[in-house]
Amino acid sequence: MAIQRPKGTQDLLPGVVEQWQDLEEQIRKICKEYGYQEIRTPIFEATELFQRGVGETTDIVNKEMYTFLDKGERSITLRPEGTASVCRAYVENKLHGGPQPVKLYYIGPMFRYERPQSGRFRQFHQFGVEVLGVDKPMVDAEVITLVWDLYSRLGLKGLEVHVNSVGCPSCRPEHKKKLQEFLAPRQEQLCKDCQSRFEKNPLRILDCKNPTCQEITQGAPTTLDTLCEECAEHFKELQSLLSAAEVVYKVNPRLVRGLDYYRKTAFEVLVEDIGAQSAICGGGRYDGLVQEVGGPPTPGIGFAMGMERVLAARKLAQGEQEGEGKDYLLLVALGDQAQREGFAIVSRLRKQGMPAGIDLLGRSLKAQLKAADRVQAHYAAILGEEELHKGIIILRDLRLGEQVELPLQDFEEVVWKRYKEDGN
Ligand code: HAM
Repeated sequence: MAIQRPKGTQDLLPGVVEQWQDLEEQIRKICKEYGYQEIRTPIFEATELFQRGVGETTDIVNKEMYTFLDKGERSITLRPEGTASVCRAYVENKLHGGPQPVKLYYIGPMFRYERPQSGRFRQFHQFGVEVLGVDKPMVDAEVITLVWDLYSRLGLKGLEVHVNSVGCPSCRPEHKKKLQEFLAPRQEQLCKDCQSRFEKNPLRILDCKNPTCQEITQGAPTTLDTLCEECAEHFKELQSLLSAAEVVYKVNPRLVRGLDYYRKTAFEVLVEDIGAQSAICGGGRYDGLVQEVGGPPTPGIGFAMGMERVLAARKLAQGEQEGEGKDYLLLVALGDQAQREGFAIVSRLRKQGMPAGIDLLGRSLKAQLKAADRVQAHYAAILGEEELHKGIIILRDLRLGEQVELPLQDFEEVVWKRYKEDGN
């Protein structure tokens, strides 16, 4: 039997890869404009990093990690997310000793052993941003604005930005107590997972997808009810900065993120209709994490977006993308001599940066024109023995269905002119 790729992974084939490259390009551009620098950390890390960083009570650590012992008997985990690694790298490379804040971004594969479905994979890709060293709400507003700005450049539609404050170690215990009091009478009816969350991390019960748990938590006290003065002030300031930046957002007091490190700000961006999984971005503040992985007390905030989901949302908003990176011009050469001449022309065009192609199979005129259509070329240039003899070439505009005869010696100049006029 033929070998298949592992469940929950994808092959990104030509035609799709171009969409990824374009997304990555836009990401790098916006990061540069906002002053973020790229960081690349290992794809695997010591398991302990995620146990301590992401949290022992989370689904990610409990159920979803790809963990194995390497040949040296060390417990290794394929990274399920990027934040813990970035904090480790910040400490290990003493980035806290330099100027603050440190504004970083990353693009790369992450691994979670989840049940695959539309928009949910076992190997997926995140673009994430982390800002370390500043606790001011303006940083929170900046990263959310970056997301908003990127999505509008990508032309995404039907977005909802949900923001919340999940409090800090000084106000959370009170919320925990109130929530436990609220849930206690119906504790036995909670799902098995939530029963075990009840003691350690009842906040996560608000996020459970089980219908009974959702019903039980209706009207439960939220973190917003018990925020301390500092957290309340921070959240208020964040909201006014978001409004100033014209980000359309919604306060969602039930927004609870699936990772334990969040404090104060938590946010998510949801998009309609991309299938079962609607969260295209999630993030928040994690002021205790750097210390948790062995560094000095350092505030931090960031987000990560699932690139597969962003591309799905983009496709939905824009319809099928035009074949990016495909040939602008296809040279249809008929006969040996014309093929040689055609090859020389295409080589010159390519050398100067025009995406140009020539038939490699020696096919008929009809088959070559069909191929030009398939690659969505704007022009076909037809060169047969007869044209060659007369010193001309036929330039056919495939979008308009018109053609002109050009002297062979003028051909490249004309094509370059049109290429530039087309915005290239
Ligand atoms: P997260 O919410 O676990 O947060 O993941 C962020 C985004 O990654 C999700 O909103 C979703 O778009 C995408 N994602 C997650 N799991 C999958 C999957 N199995 N398949 C496809 N896409 C997926 C974090 O990872 C935090 N590190 C974000 C962060 C950065 N917080 C602060 N800084």
